[in-house]
Amino acid sequence: MTSDQTEEDKLYNIAQTNFYKGSIDQDVCNEALKNVEPLFDKFNARTWNCALRTSTDYNENIINIAPLFHLKSLLLKHVTSYMFKTNEFYDGYICHSWINVYEKNFYQEMHTHEDPINSYICGVVYLTADNSEIHFADPLHTGHVYHKPELGDIVIFKDTLHHRVVENDKDTLRVSLAFNYVKKKNWQII
Ligand SMILES: [Fe+2]
Repeated sequence: MTSDQTEEDKLYNIAQTNFYKGSIDQDVCNEALKNVEPLFDKFNARTWNCALRTSTDYNENIINIAPLFHLKSLLLKHVTSYMFKTNEFYDGYICHSWINVYEKNFYQEMHTHEDPINSYICGVVYLTADNSEIHFADPLHTGHVYHKPELGDIVIFKDTLHHRVVENDKDTLRVSLAFNYVKKKNWQII
C-alpha cells in the first residue's frame, strides 16, 4: 500500500451502481491548485444550465499540463484500484479533464457523463478543503448518497451515475478537477 492509497479506499453502493472513494496526498493537491490558480481568469466556460466556471474553453485535457503530471499519475493509480474493486478492467486513458471553480452560490445540476459513442470511468479530485457536498443518485432517484469531500478526496464512478454539486455557501472557492477515462478495450485478469 502506498501513501496515496489508504485503508479507506472503498466502494459504496447506490441501488445497482456504485462509487469509489479514495484519497490523494494533500501536498500534491495543494501543488496542483497553486499551479492552476493563475489560470482561473481564463476559465470562463459554462457547462449545462448551472452556475459554474470550468477550464474546458482553455484546454480540453488540463491534466496534461506539465505541472499536473504528478497528480495525473496518482489519478491513474486510483482508476486502477477502482478496476480491482469493481473487477472490471479496461485499457484506456484520460481523454477529458477540467477544473471546476465554484464561487459563492455556484452549484452544478444533476447530470451524467454518458456519451453516445464512448464509455467512461469518471472521477473528481478535490483541490480545496471544506467543500459543499456531491450528491449521487440512482437513475430513478430512489437511492441517494451525499458525500462532503475533503482536500485530496477522489471519487470515481460509472458514466451513468447521476450526480450534482450542492451550492457552495462559503465565501471561499470550491475547486475540483474532474476527468473522464475512456474505456478502449476490456481485458481480464486470469
Ligand atoms: Fe459530473
